[in-house]
Amino acid sequence: MNILVTGGAGFIGSHTLIELYKAGHTALVVDNLYNANPEALRRVAEIIGIPEIPFVEADIRDRQALEAVFANNRFDACIHFAGLKAVGESVEKPLEYYENNLNGTFVLLDVMRRHNCKNIIFSSSATVYGDPAIIPITEECPKGQCTNPYGQTKSMLEQVMMDLQKADPDWNIVLLRYFNPIGAHPSGKIGENPNGIPNNLMPYITQVAIGKRERLGVFGNDYPTHDGTGVRDYIHVMDLASAHVAALQAITRKQGLTIYNIGTGQGYSVLDVVKAFIRVSKVDIPYVIMPRRAGDIATCYCNPDKAERELGWKAQFGLDDMCRDAWNWQKNNPEGY
Ligand code: NAD
Ligand code: WQD
Repeated sequence: MNILVTGGAGFIGSHTLIELYKAGHTALVVDNLYNANPEALRRVAEIIGIPEIPFVEADIRDRQALEAVFANNRFDACIHFAGLKAVGESVEKPLEYYENNLNGTFVLLDVMRRHNCKNIIFSSSATVYGDPAIIPITEECPKGQCTNPYGQTKSMLEQVMMDLQKADPDWNIVLLRYFNPIGAHPSGKIGENPNGIPNNLMPYITQVAIGKRERLGVFGNDYPTHDGTGVRDYIHVMDLASAHVAALQAITRKQGLTIYNIGTGQGYSVLDVVKAFIRVSKVDIPYVIMPRRAGDIATCYCNPDKAERELGWKAQFGLDDMCRDAWNWQKNNPEGY
């Protein structure tokens, strides 16, 4: 298939391109480079072994630019990663987050429809479950109250796509609810490249390991978990990448709208991750216990059986692999791209 990949220069998009090409697909990336470096696409092409990844630098809110992309190409489906994703920043800048994530998706869906491309895989998030009613979380678990505008945009866009598919059954829509993607391509050539102080656990840990940050702050050790720190379902970004290739099957089978949890089904605490990282990297990670972070929940991990049953997809990598590859990327690229 030929796939339009919005936000394809970013963390998850760049890794997904590799799996798409490996499976025999081709892609064109539209990205405004707001949170990405074009060097990522150059390295992706190098890993795949092609001269370059077709790329248009454009904002998906720019209707004219998107129209031109569709006028010049034929796509079988779109994988839609483009969006703003920093939880804390979304609390500070709600309007920017709602505007970019909602409006960008509205323009994209409308232009797709006009060009009769009605197949889309959307990057949703475990955040839509809020503080989950059931652990492990199945797709039937009711959506919860999101504590931040970023999460609201994901939840709202899921609803928009549900309504769209109901109104026009020609649409095939896959909502992938990612849990906590970490790690990097095993080559160490591409990985997560956060701007400024990392918000997420693994990039913070790797920056402590490389000496950029003094110590990790562990946000709370009084949660009702096995060691008091927050438990999450970390998933290797290459497993997440291959989930997108698997999800294309749901589109081929014309399943209408389907939702899949994309995680390993295994929960690890902050301290489990720190210990695994120290073991794998042989680098010490000094840490200090801090107060809880506003909006955090105690435990979040999924039941990923539906994706295995219907798509034949299952995570292959464990926590040690995630730590090894995250460290390999950071070590080889201390300043990112
Ligand atoms: P990322 O920021 O690395 O990638 C997003 C890409 O979209 C960036 O390259 C950015 O430049 C681009 N972009 C943003 N707004 C755009 C616009 N208006 N037009 C064109 N390009 C635009 O983020 P990521 O971690 O790769 O996440 C990809 C998607 O997955 C996002 O939608 C994110 O919300 C979602 N998601 C991420 C996580 C996570 O923990 N990383 C978890 C769940 C869901
Ligand atoms: C993981 C654990 C923290 C940093 C976020 C978004 C979610 C999704 C994935 C996009 C928690 C603890 C963290 C630190 C710490 N993104 N922690 N010190 O919050 O589970 O999920 O990313 O959709 O929507 O909310 O991930 O990596 O920030 O935190 O102790 O410096 O690590 O408290 O328990 P989170 P995270």
